[in-house]
Amino acid sequence: MIGCPVKHSVSSVMQNAAFSALGIDALYCSFNVERDNLGDAVGGITALGMAGFNVTIPHKESIIPFLDSIEKNAAAIGAVNTVKNVDGRLIGYNTDGRAAVKSLANAADLDGSRVLVLGAGGASRALCHALLDEGVESIHLANRSLKRAERLCGELRKAGGSCTTLGLSRRELAKSAKEVSVVVNCTSVGLTPKVDETPFFGELFRRDMVVMDMVYNPLETKFLRDALDANATTIAGVEMLVWQGALAFEIWTEKKAPLELMRDKALNALGGGGVK
Ligand SMILES: NC(=O)c1ccc[n+]([C@@H]2O[C@H](COP(=O)([O-])OP(=O)(O)OC[C@H]3O[C@@H](n4cnc5c(N)ncnc54)[C@H](OP(=O)(O)O)[C@@H]3O)[C@@H](O)[C@H]2O)c1
Repeated sequence: MIGCPVKHSVSSVMQNAAFSALGIDALYCSFNVERDNLGDAVGGITALGMAGFNVTIPHKESIIPFLDSIEKNAAAIGAVNTVKNVDGRLIGYNTDGRAAVKSLANAADLDGSRVLVLGAGGASRALCHALLDEGVESIHLANRSLKRAERLCGELRKAGGSCTTLGLSRRELAKSAKEVSVVVNCTSVGLTPKVDETPFFGELFRRDMVVMDMVYNPLETKFLRDALDANATTIAGVEMLVWQGALAFEIWTEKKAPLELMRDKALNALGGGGVK
């Protein structure tokens, strides 16, 4: 993995356990790469013949000019988080959106559903494009900066989706909450150390909602606790983290990823114990 910072990443624990379980002779390492060194880092990776790598903040968009091609989904999102080296040609993928949808799919039938997405940054963009692929009826896009939400909404409409924007006020969220069955937090609100913050209003959750938080540190956020209090079905951010790693593993190795093992390792590394 290349990113800056990378020292808190749990990807190496997940991926190395998966390689080992499948008897694959490979090693996953994380490298702190500053913005100015991105080109040199990619050159080094190619020169060394590495099989592939993950890309994280702040390089998910700036990596694109250094790649030979990018897959359709990554092109639509405009960001890459997984790269595969095929005979010296670097191919970029984005597994974030599909990972989010895979995490939701066990609990929610997305086809024809209405989804409230909180946040309009990179993770939201990946999710929204994947939601369109799943055939959602409409996306309600709520963001602190309305301009940013409108930009993303415009993109989604161009891609054939139905999307409306709103702010994060109680009034606007209450109106939208009445109309949706799925709510996903794609903002960074609630992230450690500000663990008592949430971008939503707990009383707006219902028991017939599926609620996912992309934030995985802490494992259980205030947003998820509020949803649990309302007896909603909840999905923690670690599930998406595991899926994006599993999908990357499958791109590199063309083998089925040991999902449960990767989940166990991620949970252990994040301090959640070996929950199944
Ligand atoms: N589970 C996973 O595998 C996974 C994968 C990717 C990302 N994530 C998590 O998803 C979150 C978002 O990531 P990203 O890459 O999309 O980040 P990003 O591009 O920086 O977007 C951040 C989003 O959070 C909003 N935000 C930040 N502070 C806020 C505040 N105080 N009040 C209201 N809104 C606020 C921003 O709103 P404005 O536009 O108004 O600034 C924006 O919508 C992060 O916590 C990241 O760790 C998790």
